[in-house]
This record gives sequence, C-alpha cells and structure tokens, in this order.
Amino acid sequence: MLSKTNEKILVVQNLNVSYQKLKVLFDVSIEVNTGEVVAIVGRNGAGKTTLFRTIAGFIKKDSGSIFFKSKDIGSLPAYEVAQLGLKYIPQDKQVFSDLEVRENLELGSYATKDYNWDVVLEYFPKLKTLLKRKAGHLSGGERQMLLIAMALLGNPELVLMDEPTEGLAPHVINDLSHAFKEINKKTTLVIIEQNLPLTAEIANRVYSMKEGKIIAETVDKDDIKKMVFEKYL
Ligand SMILES: Nc1ncnc2c1ncn2[C@@H]1O[C@H](COP(=O)(O)OP(=O)(O)O)[C@@H](O)[C@H]1O
Ligand SMILES: [Mg+2]
Repeated sequence: MLSKTNEKILVVQNLNVSYQKLKVLFDVSIEVNTGEVVAIVGRNGAGKTTLFRTIAGFIKKDSGSIFFKSKDIGSLPAYEVAQLGLKYIPQDKQVFSDLEVRENLELGSYATKDYNWDVVLEYFPKLKTLLKRKAGHLSGGERQMLLIAMALLGNPELVLMDEPTEGLAPHVINDLSHAFKEINKKTTLVIIEQNLPLTAEIANRVYSMKEGKIIAETVDKDDIKKMVFEKYL
C-alpha cells in the first residue's frame, strides 16, 4: 500500500513551451508527492494537455526542467519516459479499434513485458466480460477503462490522465472515481479534470491553470472540499 509521503516523485520547474512561434506554457512549476492524487483544472486552451505531453516526452520544451524520481527526464523521448514508469493516457481515448480488447491488452503486455492482467482487470471487472469484443465497439467509458488498464501494465509509479471522464455518463464517472481511489493505493496519479465535484472528491492537491500559467495551488483539505479552485477558472 502506497502512503502519501513528502518524497517528490515529479518536479516541474519553470517550464516554457511553444508550438512554433505560439508560446503556450509560461514558467509552469508543479510538484507531485509520491502517493498523491493531484488534479489540474482550467478552461479549454489553458495548456493542460501541452503540459502533460511535455512531461511525457512528446513535445520539446523551450526551457525549464522536469524531474521524475529525482532523475532529469526533460530531454528524454516518450518511450524512455514510459519505460522509467511514467505513463500518459491521452485525451483522445484512442484504442486499436479493429482489435479485440484482449489483443489491445496483449500489445500493452508486449510493450511492458507484463503479462499479468489479473491486477489491472481487478479495477475494472466489466472489462473481464468484454475481452473478446472489438475495441471499436466499446462505449466511451469502457474504452477509457481499457486505456487505463493498458497504462497500468508494467506497474508504473506515476500515471498522467488527460480528462479521463470527459463525455462520460454520471454512473460511469462514479465507477471510474472508485477505480481511481483503488489505483491510487499503488500508483501516484495526476489527473486533468473538468468535473469539479469529482476533483474535490479525489484530489489532495489542485493546480489551476489559466492562459498557460499556474495561477493557484490548493492543498488545504477543506478548501478542496469547498471547491475554492472554482474561482480561478
Ligand atoms: N499541435 C498544436 N499546434 C499549435 N497550437 C496548439 C497545438 N496544440 C495545442 N495548441 C494550442 O495551445 C494552447 C493550449 O492547448 P492545450 O494544451 O490543448 O490546452 P488544454 O488541454 O488546457 O485545453 C491552445 O491555444 C491551443 O490552441
Ligand atoms: Mg486538453
């Protein structure tokens, strides 16, 4: 069981990122302690996805630093970052549609050499009944579950989830919220989330982003419960 510590699993310092001439992130700094659930909130276009993609090694930064378990990962390609145990689940919910759920998981296993599905399927009992279904025929919630299960193969220490509940029905969000709490018993989570009540329920640290900057950090339990971060949107 992973308990919250003061050990910093992720430290991002003064990150600046641009798409060609368009500057998108301005001196972004965040910290994540081992065992936490950290949420990042902010309107569309604030730069949340860009932040995740840069941490995961898909976008080159202009300047700043990124440390994962005290190791400087700021110049590593995405596959190396993933191999170190930092996984990123993109916003677009892309699976291999023509392949069965089982085959999608096999690809995840092949990449990580982790063939033990029992652990990851325990979080999503529903997926166990869908192993032979074409991934393209899954509902949005089922697809998200598959993506999370695939990301958890290899037992990563840190998982970044980009709007995992976007567009999902309330009862599905409920199931996912329960799964997040279970997954967090073993894995540190950073979640971009537009659902503020869900954020208040699961996060113990909330960063608010606006126009490419972190404009607030909320760590007080009661403040998070009261959703004070809502005023920074
Ligand atoms: N591939 C890209 N090329 C150029 N501009 C982009 C690209 N992706 C995102 N942007 C721009 O960067 C800004 C931040 O986008 P993004 O990180 O996706 O924000 P969020 O995830 O908070 O909605 C937006 O202005 C967006 O239009
Ligand atoms: Mg986004």
